[in-house]
Amino acid sequence: MHIGLTYDLKTSFDLKPGLPEDIAEEYDSVETVQLISSSLEALGHTVIHLGGGLEFLSNMCAGTDAELVFNISEGRGNYPSREAQVPSVLEMYNIPYTGSSPQCLSICLDKPLTKHILKASGIVTPHWLVVSDKQSADRVSWDNIGFPLVVKPAHEGSSIGIHNCSLAQNVQEAKALCTTSLVGYNQPVMIEQYISGREVTVGIIGSHKPDVLGIMEIKPKHRHEMFMYSIEVKRDYVNQVDYECPANLPKTVLEEIKKTSLKIYSLLGCLDMARLDFRIDKQGQPYFIEINPLPGLGNHSDLVIMASFLGISHQSLIQMILSAALERYPQCIQI
Ligand SMILES: Nc1ncnc2c1ncn2[C@@H]1O[C@H](COP(=O)(O)OP(=O)(O)OP(=O)(O)O)[C@@H](O)[C@H]1O
Ligand SMILES: [Mg+2]
Repeated sequence: MHIGLTYDLKTSFDLKPGLPEDIAEEYDSVETVQLISSSLEALGHTVIHLGGGLEFLSNMCAGTDAELVFNISEGRGNYPSREAQVPSVLEMYNIPYTGSSPQCLSICLDKPLTKHILKASGIVTPHWLVVSDKQSADRVSWDNIGFPLVVKPAHEGSSIGIHNCSLAQNVQEAKALCTTSLVGYNQPVMIEQYISGREVTVGIIGSHKPDVLGIMEIKPKHRHEMFMYSIEVKRDYVNQVDYECPANLPKTVLEEIKKTSLKIYSLLGCLDMARLDFRIDKQGQPYFIEINPLPGLGNHSDLVIMASFLGISHQSLIQMILSAALERYPQCIQI
């Protein structure tokens, strides 16, 4: 099959002076694009690099032989619906693609909106508030949420804006973090109750019949009461964390996480793949933190690390995602 590959490269991002240095963190490296391309080729496909942004648009306008697109594009700008840009264009051209719909991608990147939807369906998630400007930070009833709390940009991923110091212990620290985040990331800030305890990430693959691939624990190498899988930790993951998959948690807790994850996947309308983060408190209660319907697929990405624990190669993982997508597109010829 001729498979188009859409992506946004870190190298195509122009880091303007004054922008936070982590702003392009979610964009992919050339190595990741090459790895996915190689896996698709090893599966017998011809890969057409369509890129992202305006380069992708001009490639589409010029015409493409792609019968299906493998999409890892994060989109451009700091719009909460940026991940929908590429799949929306593909829908206009009626070209099948892997992954979730523009609607699902837009909802999931908006962390407060996702939590609203899930909370209404009984999913347990930490208390939160949204601060849209400095004035509203002054009006927050801090006592209602309690400390410590995490201060994070409302619609980012890859721990953009989530640093080791993003934890506030009091009102003064919280207000200062809100101001820094509002100015730096030019979007609302989500203030969230900090859940102390173990952390897991859950991989799901599938379209009509999604299933949990694995539940992987992220374990800090150096014991830390207030651990955060922050941008500093993710960049230095080799020295900072160990991964364990399957996570060594009580069976009842694992079952609860599995059931909740599948419910969330279905409620949000995810397709083909997603990775969900949870914190588990001392009583064994899992708290939903966030979901990534466009999880990283590079060698150092959590879903790929999880797969390798389970004996699933990168090529097999790509095949699983592709097979899930092809269930929706019988017109595509499978090799
Ligand atoms: N409410 C919370 N309680 C405890 N820890 C939290 C909370 N929110 C975030 N964290 C910590 O910060 C990390 C990053 O937060 P989050 O998952 O929201 O960011 P992200 O940028 O969307 O992550 P990803 O890289 O998975 O896209 C979490 O993995 C967790 O360690
Ligand atoms: Mg996360």
